[in-house]
Amino acid sequence: MDITLNGLTKRFPARGRKAQGMTTAVRDLSFTVPHGKLVGLLGPSGCGKSTTLNMICGLEAPTAGRILFGGQDVTDLPPELRGVGMVFQNYALYPHLSVLQNILFPLENLKGKERPTRAAMRERALEAARLVQIEELLDRRPRELSGGQQQRVAIARALVKTPRVLLLDEPLSNLDARLRLPPRDEICKIQQKTGITTLFVTHDQEEAMSISDLIVVMKDGVLMQQGRPQQVYDDPDSLFVAKFLGTPPINVFAGEVKGGQLYLDGGGARPVLAAPGAPDGPVWAGVRPEGFTPAPDGPLACAVSRVEVLGRDVSIVCAHPACQGGTLRAILRSARQAEAAAAQARFALVPEKTCLFDRRTERRIRTDAPRP
Ligand SMILES: Nc1ncnc2c1ncn2[C@@H]1O[C@H](COP(=O)(O)OP(=O)(O)OP(=O)(O)O)[C@@H](O)[C@H]1O
Ligand SMILES: [Mg+2]
Repeated sequence: MDITLNGLTKRFPARGRKAQGMTTAVRDLSFTVPHGKLVGLLGPSGCGKSTTLNMICGLEAPTAGRILFGGQDVTDLPPELRGVGMVFQNYALYPHLSVLQNILFPLENLKGKERPTRAAMRERALEAARLVQIEELLDRRPRELSGGQQQRVAIARALVKTPRVLLLDEPLSNLDARLRLPPRDEICKIQQKTGITTLFVTHDQEEAMSISDLIVVMKDGVLMQQGRPQQVYDDPDSLFVAKFLGTPPINVFAGEVKGGQLYLDGGGARPVLAAPGAPDGPVWAGVRPEGFTPAPDGPLACAVSRVEVLGRDVSIVCAHPACQGGTLRAILRSARQAEAAAAQARFALVPEKTCLFDRRTERRIRTDAPRP
C-alpha cells in the first residue's frame, strides 16, 4: 500500500520569550512512498523529518494537507486505526519488560474484538522475533542487549501488529558508523522479506543513499528534491542538494559564464569548461571529487597541498582561490594517476560531474551539454 502526502503543513506555536507567532516545521509537503518500496527521508537536523513521520502515524495532526494510505484518507484517523508500525529514534523499549513482553505490548493494548487470544498473540510475537532473528533473546531485558539487538526488538515490536506501513525514525543514530552497517543491511532485508512500504528517516546521506529505493531531501520543512539516489546525486536541482549528498562533498567554485564558457574567479583568462546555452552571469560551479582528470594541458591549474592514500583510491587536496574553503579535493582511482596529478597540478573537468548553479538563487542552471 502506498503512502501519499498531499500539501502537508505543520505549524507549532513559537517557543521562547522573544519568539512570537508560529514556526512552520513542515511546509506544503507532497510526495508518495510507492507500494512495497523503501523511501529515505533525508535532511539536516530540524528540517521537519520527525514531524512528518509523526503526522503520518497520527501522533501530530497536520495544520493543513492530507495523508492517504492506498488512496484512503487517514488524516483524521486515530493512530491505532492507521495500521502503522513505528520505530522511534531512541527505540523506547520498556526497560522493566523482557524482550518478548516488549514485542507483545502493542497486541496486549488491543481492545475488544481486535484483541487476539493469548496463544495467537504469542504466535505472532514469535513470528516477528523470528523475522528479525532474536528468538534466542526473548527472555532478556533491553539493557542486556547490544544497540543493534535493541533495534531489532523495536522493529519486531513495530511489525507485530502486521502494519500496513513501517516508519523508522533514525533507528541507527545511536550506533557509531561501523556498527551501523549490519543493522542497516538487516533493515533492508526485513523490508524486502516483508515487502512492507517503508519510510526511513535519517540525516546521514550515505545511509539514505545506500538502502533507499528513492530518497526525499528536505530543508527547512520544504521538499528540495526526490528521486532515485543515484539520479539525485548526479542531477541535483539545487546547490543545497548537491552539497548535502556525497562524501567527500562536492567542490564548489565561484565562477562566471561568458559566451557559453565557464571561467573560475582568479583562474585566468582561460575557460575551464564549455557551458553551452547557459546565460552569462556569476555562478557556483560544483565539481564532484571524481570529476577531475589529470591533464598536462588541463585548464584548471592549482597548487597541490597533499596526497592522501586511502587504500582503494587516492585523494588529492589542492589550493585554488575560487574554491569555497580554499581547497578542492579530487579523488583519483589509481596511484599512477595521482602521481601524474601531483606532478602536473593541472586538471580537466568531467562535464557530467560538474553542475552550475545561479549564484543568487543557488538553483541549478541547465546547460545544453549532453549528459549520459
Ligand atoms: N512540539 C513542538 N513544538 C514546537 N516546535 C516544534 C515541536 N516539534 C518540533 N518543533 C520544531 O519543528 C522543527 C522540525 O522539527 P523535527 O523534530 O521535525 O526535525 P527533524 O528533522 O526530525 O530533526 P532531527 O534530525 O534533529 O531529529 C524544528 O525547528 C523544531 O524545533
Ligand atoms: Mg528527528
